[in-house]
Amino acid sequence: MTDTITIRAPDDWHVHLRDGAMLNAVLPFTARRFARAIVMPNLVPPVATTADADAYRARILAALPEDADFTPLMTAYLRDDTDADDIANGFRDGVLTAVKLYPAHATTNAAAGVTDIARVRPVLARMETIGMPLLIHGEDAGPEVDIFEREQVFVERRLAPLLHDFPGLKVVLEHLSTAIAVDFVRAHAPQLAGTITPHHLVETRNSMLGHGLRPHLYCMPVVKRESDRVALVAAATSGEACFFLGTDTAPHALGRKLAPVCAAGVFNAPVAIETYAEVFDKAGRLDRLEAFASLNGPRHYGLPVNERTITLVRAGWTAPREATVEGPEGRVAAYRGGETIAWQVSGAA
Ligand code: DOR
Ligand code: ZN
Repeated sequence: MTDTITIRAPDDWHVHLRDGAMLNAVLPFTARRFARAIVMPNLVPPVATTADADAYRARILAALPEDADFTPLMTAYLRDDTDADDIANGFRDGVLTAVKLYPAHATTNAAAGVTDIARVRPVLARMETIGMPLLIHGEDAGPEVDIFEREQVFVERRLAPLLHDFPGLKVVLEHLSTAIAVDFVRAHAPQLAGTITPHHLVETRNSMLGHGLRPHLYCMPVVKRESDRVALVAAATSGEACFFLGTDTAPHALGRKLAPVCAAGVFNAPVAIETYAEVFDKAGRLDRLEAFASLNGPRHYGLPVNERTITLVRAGWTAPREATVEGPEGRVAAYRGGETIAWQVSGAA
């Protein structure tokens, strides 16, 4: 039985770091485990321009623990009125790594998202020309679309035509949640890749809803059926280059999770790489963790892989129940808080 595994340092291709006191509270969990992370722009107001991203990056760097070796990779929030020149300049100057498309109203702070993909065609055409990746929250949140079918409907009605119209555009379909999306990514690689979260590899709508309603497992896209989870595990552990790690760690203050209208998001940063290691171990595929966590992402983004390594060891530890926010927001409950986790990162606090 393998008890220790050393891999190139992993990157997280999808994180919500928030801002202010919440940023200070949650950033260390990501920065101690991952070398780089793609930072989501859905602040209020959104990180929409190169100047916004530059300022947000400075706030993140200022909040980093002193001993951290971590690089935030910034994204811009695509809006109907996004200026293609500004985005292209930000990419050229190394401020922006990618652009994020939220369909309007699809998820948390997506009110300013794209109302109709036709409106952003000039920006997409420019990104295609300069090789700038487009990251997509792939859900159609139209009132007639069943919540469990939002991803499938988006993939069929919006993503397929988009890939067809912009064949040179590099795309990431974020947080895959269905077997249908897994198959679609496979069929459209290498133009398209998909990220997979720890919670979509572990949880189902049964674990979220079947034994009492568990608000801390509620996220967008919502976790699906067992057959979807099995397909996601098979994809993540397949070693295929089109699947890679993106935690979608998305902290919300306890008061917002336990409210009558519960905020969507799972704060998994304290146990993310450790949970992936457990999943790969259970599948008998620890040998493919490095491809998923550290190699496939940089390849899709056209970035170098990390030179330094991390070591994961099979040694049970108790996951922290929450992170403390030094401000009015209070506490954030952590995914798997209080559970015994079978793997840990050697040296991570
Ligand atoms: O569950 C989610 N939470 N999904 C998203 O797409 C956004 C995120 C957030 O920002 O809280
Ligand atoms: Zn997200």
